[in-house]
Amino acid sequence: ETKPRTPVVWLHGLECTCCTESFIRSAHPLTKDVILSMLSLDYDDTLMAAAGHQAEAILEEVKRKYKGQYILAVEGNPPLNEDGMYCFQGGRPFVEKLKDMAADCKAIIAWGSCASWGCVQAAKPNPTRATPVHKVITDKPVIKVPGCPPIPEVMTAVVTYMLSFDRLPTLDRMGRPAMFYGQRIHDKCYRRPHFDAGQFAESWDDEGARKGYCLYKMGCKGPTTYNACSTVRWNEGVSFPIQSGHGCIGCSEDGFWDKGSFYSRV
Ligand code: SF4
Ligand code: SF4
Ligand code: F3S
Repeated sequence: ETKPRTPVVWLHGLECTCCTESFIRSAHPLTKDVILSMLSLDYDDTLMAAAGHQAEAILEEVKRKYKGQYILAVEGNPPLNEDGMYCFQGGRPFVEKLKDMAADCKAIIAWGSCASWGCVQAAKPNPTRATPVHKVITDKPVIKVPGCPPIPEVMTAVVTYMLSFDRLPTLDRMGRPAMFYGQRIHDKCYRRPHFDAGQFAESWDDEGARKGYCLYKMGCKGPTTYNACSTVRWNEGVSFPIQSGHGCIGCSEDGFWDKGSFYSRV
């Protein structure tokens, strides 16, 4: 309670903004408590009142006042083709803004599959050369929190951990917080007993689907997807894609958008 609030700058590159939509729905902790009591969200294109030159001036102020102390949160990614012209903000390509703000930050959080892996805008042939953050910024720790979008409580928990313990969470070999990306959806899926018993839905409206059998044959990517959906779940722990009757499409995995059909095993 007595610690000064950690400054956070939240940038938006090529993306859809649903990572922010997810973030603002966290119930434990509530997003308002994170934003108003735990950190100082000094800049965020989509959540701040300031605009234009006033907004850009904040970036300079943060760099000057909090050199080496602020966290840089990045949603979306920089496109590198045509000198970065496919994403242009405040009179300069986003990639320049990213490099500028990364130079003096303490650590980077790469929100979602856009910032972590590239996501759908990087789909072949990737005309804008959308590039994940860690391939552009190589001299700062980058904490990847993938998912399209990531789970709200996972997002706020990563921030809470960093602020509470003043250190980065333990990361797996892919750079993701191990506490949330250490297991596959399949490992804790409530339909797993059906998988083990060889009971599968063979079409979307057959008897197996109605009985809640395993969705593996309908293309579920749970066996190869590392995320916390089957434990933390969504909407305050109410449900997740498989519980709604749709297989996991592997939205937190690198390259999920280019790996063939969401509805077959290939
Ligand atoms: Fe949107 Fe998905 Fe990118 Fe997040 S990761 S900004 S939800 S496209
Ligand atoms: Fe595994 Fe998917 Fe079947 Fe769940 S529905 S047990 S994640 S294959
Ligand atoms: Fe994404 Fe699969 Fe979870 S599609 S939301 S990782 S169940």
